[in-house]
Amino acid sequence: MNNSLSLTLDAFYTETSVTFSAEFTEDQFYLDHQLQDPKATIKVSRFLDLARKKADCPLFAVVKSQNFVPTAAGLASSASGLAALAGAVSAALNLDLSPRALSRFARRGSGSASRSIYGGFAEWEKGDSDETSYATKIISDGFEEDLSMIFIVVNDAQKDISSRDGMQRTVETSSFYDGWLHSVPKDLAKAKTAIAAKDFIALGEATEASALKMHGTTLAATPPFTYWSAESMKAMNLVRQLRSAALPCYFTMDAGPNVKVLVERKNEEKILNELAKHFDSTQLIVAHAGPSIEILAAEEA
Ligand code: ADP
Ligand code: CO
Repeated sequence: MNNSLSLTLDAFYTETSVTFSAEFTEDQFYLDHQLQDPKATIKVSRFLDLARKKADCPLFAVVKSQNFVPTAAGLASSASGLAALAGAVSAALNLDLSPRALSRFARRGSGSASRSIYGGFAEWEKGDSDETSYATKIISDGFEEDLSMIFIVVNDAQKDISSRDGMQRTVETSSFYDGWLHSVPKDLAKAKTAIAAKDFIALGEATEASALKMHGTTLAATPPFTYWSAESMKAMNLVRQLRSAALPCYFTMDAGPNVKVLVERKNEEKILNELAKHFDSTQLIVAHAGPSIEILAAEEA
């Protein structure tokens, strides 16, 4: 429905291996060393089906994945996990995909994953087909190296409403949805201009305003819902306070209660110290720009 922009981060990632074999009688999916139930496995199987069709491969697979990110907590495990799965499957079947083709493929697993195969900033083009909808890297002249993202993890449990269900309900029922949709191109243009100009303040303003508008849409859905908790509000207010005390920082939030604070790297320590006065140090995670997807090892024959 709308284009979107992301910054790939180093602190949270996924490692996934995929093995196809004639010896397997079904697909199996292990997440964090635990064999997953049929409901979780079928999502992975459907994604594998796309690759099996592409490669004309009839074999079942064992997928082993480890999330170095809490799963389904609004910390983008779907972006990380499905980008990793897309890369691992395409390596296992020697699909030899260009970054653009890999982005298209990852999108079929999770929209957010289309961006996360790239390092640094990426933009996902809206659309309803493989042909039109994929992500591209945003040329930034290394601006992302000047930035840090401080995570305030207020709750890393699995959320009640998945991103997919929350988005679907919002698109179908929220009376605020059209307002949000119309506001995106302007905010996105401001963000991209800010990246090109290395203008931290403008990027922060666009990011925070866009996040607030997006979260506003859920309040007008039927039934209404919110991903915010009292602790999220506390974190957002703290960011506003730091800003009025001349410490530039801006927040953004994904579909979950956790708050991410965008800061300039040169101010990272100062702002981290301020946040540590209000949150436990175990709740604060610092991330920097991360690399593109990496193939760690070739599949054994
Ligand atoms: P999040 O905020 O963590 O992105 P989502 O609701 O968007 O939450 O997506 C969570 C879903 O993403 C999980 O239920 C699972 O289906 C999928 N997912 C997460 N990590 C992985 C992984 N490593 N491999 C495969 N699928 C994953
Ligand atoms: Co997600």
